[in-house]
Amino acid sequence: MLSSLAPMQDVTDLAFMRTLARIGSLPDFFVTAYFRSTPTTCAIAENNLRCIDENETGTPILAQLAGCDPAALVRDAEWLMGRNIAGINLNAGCPSPLVNRHGAGAGLLRELPQFRKVLQALRGVVPAGQFSVKFRTGWADEAELPAILDTIAAASPDMAMVHGRTRKDLYAAGTVRPENIRRAVLRLPCPVLGNGDIATAEQARKWVNELCPAGVMIGRGAVRNPYIFRQLRGAPAPTADDMRMYYDVLIEETNKILHTKRTAAGHCNRMKKYLAFCYADFTPEQEYALRRCTDIATMQRILCG
Ligand SMILES: Cc1cc2nc3c(=O)[nH]c(=O)nc-3n(C[C@H](O)[C@H](O)[C@H](O)COP(=O)(O)O)c2cc1C
Repeated sequence: MLSSLAPMQDVTDLAFMRTLARIGSLPDFFVTAYFRSTPTTCAIAENNLRCIDENETGTPILAQLAGCDPAALVRDAEWLMGRNIAGINLNAGCPSPLVNRHGAGAGLLRELPQFRKVLQALRGVVPAGQFSVKFRTGWADEAELPAILDTIAAASPDMAMVHGRTRKDLYAAGTVRPENIRRAVLRLPCPVLGNGDIATAEQARKWVNELCPAGVMIGRGAVRNPYIFRQLRGAPAPTADDMRMYYDVLIEETNKILHTKRTAAGHCNRMKKYLAFCYADFTPEQEYALRRCTDIATMQRILCG
């Protein structure tokens, strides 16, 4: 089974990737957060590009594109393929109104003829073995799923990652539908990784046994417990010391990527992007203090004891 870190804009960044390497808990591959691709701009986000250009973790990375214009996507895919990536991943799941308004991200799911064109165009230029698509199970309703799966299957991607929610579900608790992940696995002619609310290694294993044998993609659960990838290879659950080491290393790696743009408050704010997914592991008093923290030494004391 494969394990992958789900892309999360401004969260699964170079600092987080390096942290996983340093604590010895790497997934089988990374995916960058999306590069927005439009006819007029290729908004090559510097932070996402650094995940490719400065990835010395030894773990391959796919570059993700979000767009709906085939020519622009092909242009940007070709540019990215000139760099050190293991493939191109198309984003058909982003629920941001800003992105969807232009037909990109999950917006592709309600314009299947356009989705088909985009998939075919990228399939035409991305080498065999290197084209994947990450998608949700519908725009407004899971009843849309069969037609979405037919559209994806027609382009013969090499891999797919299915987030078991519709766009309408956004990220609401309790809305992941495992049976829709299973439907994708059964219909698509490629390995399908299941994604959505995987919180523990036990749950990931259960999904692999029952739903998606090819593997899983884990986002927020891996920020809260970054040792999950190591656990999936048989290591024990992290101890309190392991967690202290995680926060320590993350503070250090975040400091490094901020370079000269660093200020104490800026460093704390950067840390809060990850901590947003970790607060449940702290007392209400600690959470209160962490949320208001503007001084990295205080933050480190709370996190690492
Ligand atoms: C803050 C944040 C940013 C995200 N950015 C992206 C992105 O750039 N590309 C993408 O395909 N999905 C993105 N996602 C969705 C995740 O990759 C994943 O599909 C979703 O969080 C469900 O998985 P999880 O419960 O394991 O986190 C993002 C999610 C969050 C919470």
